[in-house]
Amino acid sequence: MTALMTPTLRSLYMPVRADPEPCREQDLGLFEVVIRDGAARIGRLHTLHGSLQTPVLLPVINPNLRTIEPREMWERYGVDALITNSYVIWKHDDLKDEALTDGIHSLLDYPGVVMTDSGTFQSYVYGDVEVGVGEIVDFQRDIGVDIGTMLDVFGRPDMSRQELEDCVRETANRAPESLKAAGEDMLLNGPIQGGTHQDLRAEAASLMGSVEGEHRGFCVHPLGGIVPLMEKQRYRELFEALMAARSTVPSDRPIHMFGCGHPMLFPMAIALGADLFDSAAYALFARDDRLLSPEGTIKLEGLNEWPVSSAALFGRTPEEVRALDKDERSVLLAHHNLEVTQTELARCREAVREGRIWQLAERRSHANPQLREAFLWVLDQLEEIPDDPSGETALQMLASANPVRMGREDLSEDTGSRPHILHLHALLSMRWRVPGSWWNGIDGAPDRVVIIDSSPPPWRITALGAAVKALLENPRSVVMISTPLGPIPFSMEDVSPWCHLECSDETWREIYDDEEISEGLEELGLSNIPLVRVAPSEIPDDENSSEVRDWLDRCSIVDKLSVLCAVPPLEACKLTGEMEVRRSNTDRVVNVFNKKQHMLSPRLTDGGISLTLEGASTLNSKPNPPALFDEPISDSLSDHPGIPRVRLLEDATPFVGKGRNVMHGYILGADPHLIPGQPCLVVDDEGNLVAHGTAVTTHREMSQLSKGVAVRVREGALRDD
Ligand code: GUN
Repeated sequence: MTALMTPTLRSLYMPVRADPEPCREQDLGLFEVVIRDGAARIGRLHTLHGSLQTPVLLPVINPNLRTIEPREMWERYGVDALITNSYVIWKHDDLKDEALTDGIHSLLDYPGVVMTDSGTFQSYVYGDVEVGVGEIVDFQRDIGVDIGTMLDVFGRPDMSRQELEDCVRETANRAPESLKAAGEDMLLNGPIQGGTHQDLRAEAASLMGSVEGEHRGFCVHPLGGIVPLMEKQRYRELFEALMAARSTVPSDRPIHMFGCGHPMLFPMAIALGADLFDSAAYALFARDDRLLSPEGTIKLEGLNEWPVSSAALFGRTPEEVRALDKDERSVLLAHHNLEVTQTELARCREAVREGRIWQLAERRSHANPQLREAFLWVLDQLEEIPDDPSGETALQMLASANPVRMGREDLSEDTGSRPHILHLHALLSMRWRVPGSWWNGIDGAPDRVVIIDSSPPPWRITALGAAVKALLENPRSVVMISTPLGPIPFSMEDVSPWCHLECSDETWREIYDDEEISEGLEELGLSNIPLVRVAPSEIPDDENSSEVRDWLDRCSIVDKLSVLCAVPPLEACKLTGEMEVRRSNTDRVVNVFNKKQHMLSPRLTDGGISLTLEGASTLNSKPNPPALFDEPISDSLSDHPGIPRVRLLEDATPFVGKGRNVMHGYILGADPHLIPGQPCLVVDDEGNLVAHGTAVTTHREMSQLSKGVAVRVREGALRDD
């Protein structure tokens, strides 16, 4: 009986993980973006040993010294991919023979994705390697590797510029031969060298990204030569290299951070667009009696209790662990380190899903002074965009960050520099306009700006009274709310993150002086208008109060359409000319009708806009569809170029027209001002509406990705007849 029970019980407690399914033949090597948060992305890389979810950490397996067995990594820790060194295997006859006979998966006893490195790192550590450029790729292919690495030339940060240029050129020269040797089934890493020279990193990324192989180009681009930067904690230069490479690397290629395995670095690297990491740190640090934690490294020596927890250490004291013999201790600490590393990566992925990766990077930046310095340097790039490759990436990051998002926004010293908030403020300053006419029907410039102070959200409750009062007193008043992030128009009162700022009552009661407010007013073009400061008050008992309120509702819709959707304010006014609304029982506008037609709904979760089909077709007023991807983008001088549109390939029209999502690979062109997470229209070659929905990717990504959803369609415009 016991014997019969044992396997069942075992599988209950430690279920055996099934082997992965190979990807579809046509998907091999493709990378898709599933969820994104600014430059960070949850992606999928399709391989013959499973579709690998990214961001991912590949533990390094030393084929001669397996601190943790690959099988255990697969079954117990859910490790989907690992990396080992093909050069080490090639050098050892016994390993080489077994790998050639049985394949790398059998040699390692591991069913998941196997990536191999090529010997370049050994050449950096020990001098030259004896293997040829084609030979090492042939070998990786012959042993059945999923993702191999070409023999690149390691660019050390202390090399002269000329030497680094040579590393970049020679690596690029070796690319065609390497891709040819990789054959049809093996995917290949195309490393990006360039040391600490931004222009060289950008050039290397562009060179490596554009090599076309017989079957495909490179599938992954690792950032090479960065280990010396990490060893010396030169994190600013590390992130500079990452941003420079990202400026030119094609969007359909994931970026791998070669040798980057300290969990402390993951959030920032992921927030800047890194997708894969590999690490020997879990085993190396363990051998040195050091514990990894997301906030740094901890020495076992002298510890009384565990400052970081893991299943591996649970139930033992530091003293007990110190008493273990060296090998046993190092295996135990390696388990701890691997667990902590995998957990931090899972935390990062979850943060991307929740749109909070930047906040996590911000928190982790306090772990270490060099990391903080690097983080502040990145903020400088975002705030004062420089004219260099990292500036280009900063710009792309800002433009791709969905400015409105659900959930609370914690206030910290860095809140105002978060990419989505910078984006929202930039859109406001570029697209927001004072009303063209006032609630009593008169036109003309504003007489005054009224700032409502000391008013915490929800502002439709706390500040509405003061807003109505100010407008009754003088209809030509621009009403603003004072927030810790600067003044915002009252019309944007329910837009998150402003309305979800989390801070103490004291912060909300604080009255910012005119000088502090003036910068925000200047950005909105309101600096030369007399300023009045008021406190919250009740809605006045006045016969015109409800008319003022209706006008405020209209302003809110016009402003959201123009700020978030680039609709010219005049056009937005027409759309709301005969506006009626339906309110929720918490007094929020839930549906907006014009001439009795339901046009749109303000989103209750984040204050954005959801269009209806009627709204979308009314806004599709432009005669021509967006330019094709290979045509030059016309430099629109307008701040309000109209709701962004995506031009669909004819073949996809019947499907998208019936409500299916727009997939990459079926798009001919898109407006460059498209914002992921915000509404867009889908049109055909003649500019006719096919559907409307929410953009998932940017213009650049739509032109480069070939798999995954590009527009999540809300409604198709081609009804069944
Ligand atoms: N491992 C760590 N750095 C590097 C690098 O620059 N190239 C290769 N191939 N492997 C690495």
